[in-house]
Amino acid sequence: MQFTAKVSDISKQRSACAIIAVDAKIRLGTSGAALDKACGGTIGKLLKRGDLGSKLGATLMVSLLDGPAERALLVRANDGVVSQADFRKLAKASAEAVKGLKDATSYLTELEVTGADSAWQGQQLALAAGLATYKFTRCLSDAKANPLKKFTVHAAERKKLKAVQKGIEIGAAQATGSNTARELGNLPGNICTPSYLASEARDLAKKHTKLTTTILDEKKMKSLGMGAFLSVAKGSDEPPALIAMQYKGGKAGDKPVVLVGKGITFDSGGISIKPGQSMDEMKYDMGGAASVFGVMHALLELQPAINVVGLVAAAENMPSGRASKPGDIVTSMSGKTIEILNTDAEGRLVLCDTLTYAAKYKPKTVIDIATLTGACVIALGNHATGLYANKQGLADKLLAAGERTGDRAWQMPLWDEYQPMLDSNFADMQNIGGREAGSVTAACFLSRFTKDYTWAHLDIAGSAWNSGANKGATGRPVPLLMEYLLGK
Ligand code: BES
Ligand code: MN
Ligand code: ZN
Repeated sequence: MQFTAKVSDISKQRSACAIIAVDAKIRLGTSGAALDKACGGTIGKLLKRGDLGSKLGATLMVSLLDGPAERALLVRANDGVVSQADFRKLAKASAEAVKGLKDATSYLTELEVTGADSAWQGQQLALAAGLATYKFTRCLSDAKANPLKKFTVHAAERKKLKAVQKGIEIGAAQATGSNTARELGNLPGNICTPSYLASEARDLAKKHTKLTTTILDEKKMKSLGMGAFLSVAKGSDEPPALIAMQYKGGKAGDKPVVLVGKGITFDSGGISIKPGQSMDEMKYDMGGAASVFGVMHALLELQPAINVVGLVAAAENMPSGRASKPGDIVTSMSGKTIEILNTDAEGRLVLCDTLTYAAKYKPKTVIDIATLTGACVIALGNHATGLYANKQGLADKLLAAGERTGDRAWQMPLWDEYQPMLDSNFADMQNIGGREAGSVTAACFLSRFTKDYTWAHLDIAGSAWNSGANKGATGRPVPLLMEYLLGK
């Protein structure tokens, strides 16, 4: 999609649709009023009929026969200043309403938003438009994409044009990244295997000079002593892969942020097999990996002057005669031994070795992203990503990044008191902590492998995909990660 910022005179602007806000007292803004005038007062008359719902975010599409725009999308806002959360609702509702048209121009930037500038507005509008047009069509025999190809954002004043432009670029890149993550997440496990992810990473490196890809195969992982990682892949016919993508936008000496994504392309639970209900959703168990790919795509689009390494721990978790069994003890790359009491707690096993490996990049910070625990879904539902960190400064930055983009995280405790729940009678630790505080003990497990650097863990088990009628990957937490990386 093509995104543009411009100071647009609505009375002359040709467009398939002009998106304008209407407040609670059915008043139009500057551009809305100008459009109404240009089409002979039709909009005002239609609004008086009361067809536009009164709830914030309600929309009404009206055709204009003699206006410069072919249609107007009326969007219900509130009186006065709009909150950031409400502006996001307006952005989303209007994007959903115009995704079936070929282009649209949004004048919602004329609204005043609490604590947000026009760059932020541009970013939110572009992100919402980019997300709305995504559709999973890859496995349909008759695929039709959404037609929206051009999205223009009006800058309310000439001096705001640059800021709106900058905001749009970031929002568009966040949408590209999120949609990349959604596509990979939505792909079924028989297509999106560890080898598939590896070839995606190789293709990306071929297309972009700022990105290099290295794939560690099973043999290499064995030689590095990654016994925990390999214990997960053992039961599957699909070979595992540790994928490293290096985005080099900064100076050679700039320490990178390392992102580590859980890439279980299907999680059957292994010998501790999962119940049948909704097991198909375990194709999304590579949501963390998908977000790492998403961030790489977004970085390549924006080309910021930073260094970022994306590590993807890819494997399939299956039961078989060669699979790990409950009670098995493995040695991780760190040298620590782990008693596998439940083969369904596999994410932490692939992650712990990848986190040990991450130290070789001498990282500024390491952030892992994982659909790690059902317990996190019980604790936070779908709205918040669970956040853990070994340095409060990093936690604060990630929380703020999530707030700004509306891709929010909520901090959970990483207290020492929880650590003994992982004690084992037979090894240095066991891979599960019991029924209570399941998301916390999973984070505690990872914390034992991240002592040498500043680290955060994002449990996205709830936020990475939607179930039910809206089933599908969300692309989270790509916006949060991009916002953090761009350090705004
Ligand atoms: N991939 C799952 C976590 C998950 C469950 C994500 C449901 C989203 C929805 C993970 O590998 C897993 O199975 N975790 C177990 C851990 C348990 C055995 C300690 C869980 O959460 O039940
Ligand atoms: Mn599992
Ligand atoms: Zn899993």
